Amino acid sequence: MDIQQTLSIIKPDAMKSKLSGKIINFIEEKGFSIIAQKKIILVQKQAEAFYSVHNERPFFQELVSFMISGPILVQIIEAKEGVSLYRKIMGSTNPKEAEEGTIRKLYGTDIQCNAVHGSDSLENANIESSFFFNKLEIIS
Ligand code: RTP
Ligand code: MG
Repeated sequence: MDIQQTLSIIKPDAMKSKLSGKIINFIEEKGFSIIAQKKIILVQKQAEAFYSVHNERPFFQELVSFMISGPILVQIIEAKEGVSLYRKIMGSTNPKEAEEGTIRKLYGTDIQCNAVHGSDSLENANIESSFFFNKLEIIS
């Protein structure tokens, strides 16, 4: 089993509700190490670029507005099979459909305000990690 890094974002809804500490604790208890982390506020162009894969979707502008509505915490986290493990512990996109005991079930509100982002493939994990962090910021 390979150690993999993945990109996590604690989204504005969870940051506003002061849930970042609980989510960090949850992530670490599941065996992840946090190897890079910073609190930032995205501007519109950055949020559009980050979620450009969704730019034809009806919810795109709403998603961008949400992602720039306040601070986010971006992290690179690492564990065995980390990409799929993080997707598993995050739960489904819609918190109402997420499994019990997942981050989105515990801390999400609705399909948009769902507390966290996680990369959906190893390739995207690498692309997304370099979108936010340079090598000097990654302590592995
Ligand atoms: P993420 O990329 O944030 O980890 O979420 P995901 O893979 O589970 O879901 P994805 O389909 O990639 O959607 C990205 C984010 O867009 C918002 N969304 N809104 N209003 C809607 O119908 C809708 N659908 C998705 C969510 O914030 C979702 O996480
Ligand atoms: Mg996604």
